[in-house]
Amino acid sequence: MKILVIGGAGYIGSHAVKELVNSHDIVVYDNLDTGHKEFVDKKAVFVQGDLSDNEKLNNVFNEYNIDAVMHFANYASVAESVKYPDRYFNNNVVNGLNLLNAMIKNDVKKIIFSSSCAIYGIPNEIPISESSKLNPINPYGETKLMFERILRYFDTAYGLKSISLRYFNVAGASPDLIIGEKHENETHLIPLIFDTILGKKDHVKIYGDDYDTYDGTCIRDYIHVLDIAKAHSMALEYLNNNMQTKSYNIGIGQGYSVKEVIELCKNITGREIKTIIDKRREGDPPVLVANPERFKKDAGWKEEFNIKDMIKHAWEWHKKIN
Ligand code: UFG
Repeated sequence: MKILVIGGAGYIGSHAVKELVNSHDIVVYDNLDTGHKEFVDKKAVFVQGDLSDNEKLNNVFNEYNIDAVMHFANYASVAESVKYPDRYFNNNVVNGLNLLNAMIKNDVKKIIFSSSCAIYGIPNEIPISESSKLNPINPYGETKLMFERILRYFDTAYGLKSISLRYFNVAGASPDLIIGEKHENETHLIPLIFDTILGKKDHVKIYGDDYDTYDGTCIRDYIHVLDIAKAHSMALEYLNNNMQTKSYNIGIGQGYSVKEVIELCKNITGREIKTIIDKRREGDPPVLVANPERFKKDAGWKEEFNIKDMIKHAWEWHKKIN
């Protein structure tokens, strides 16, 4: 198939492209705002462009005869979304709508969308299933939920079929160390731990140790970026065979606390990690653990990597880029 990958130069998008080029023709469309051109697999065609540029976007659909779209180009910082909600609604919703309109205009009716566990807010059950209450507590989560809803209305009105993959905490890097996570203003736990080990930061702040969890720190379900990449190719296959709009949780179904992650990083790197207990970070749900059974059953997906692999691969990658 000819797949247009929006945001294919970013962390998750570039890993998906690396997987997809093995069996598809890939065109990457990315404005390089946060993405890295050198992360795009050489077998893919690269077009630098913004989703707000209707003309360029239309030209890409025309020129490459696209069959399906994967959409990774969302802003993804919870804290930033609280500070600048306009940016988030504009990029994640308005620009996303431009993409959908271009798809309809060019008669492309299949899309895989990067959604998030942020749409559940503070979950009403653990593990979280797809039918858990949808109740985002920040603009970022709100934009993801809005877009999932838009996708459903576009199915009813125009027959656009979509699969929304609700990622939990993505971590790790490609084990061949060709690509990995590289953000300007890093906020994620595992890369920040490595920045501390590598002397770029003095200590890791633990945001709250008074949560109602077994060690007082927040629990998350970490999932390897290669397993996410695989989930995308399997989601597309499933969509091709079933042509139904659906949403799926993509996690492992196993939670690790902040303290446990730090301990694992210590063991795997063999280095000391200075930590301090800080106050809770606003908007952090105490526990986010997926029930990923629906996607496993429907698409036949299963994760290949565990948290130790994620930490190991991310550590090797961080050593390489620093
Ligand atoms: N944490 C720390 N110290 C840090 C950074 C993070 O203690 O310096 C903690 C956080 O409080 C949280 C856990 O480590 O409990 C993981 O935090 P991350 O920032 O790595 O990831 P989040 O769980 O905040 O974010 C993830 C996804 C988002 C998604 C969000 C939903 O990356 O895209 O879950 O809440 F929106």
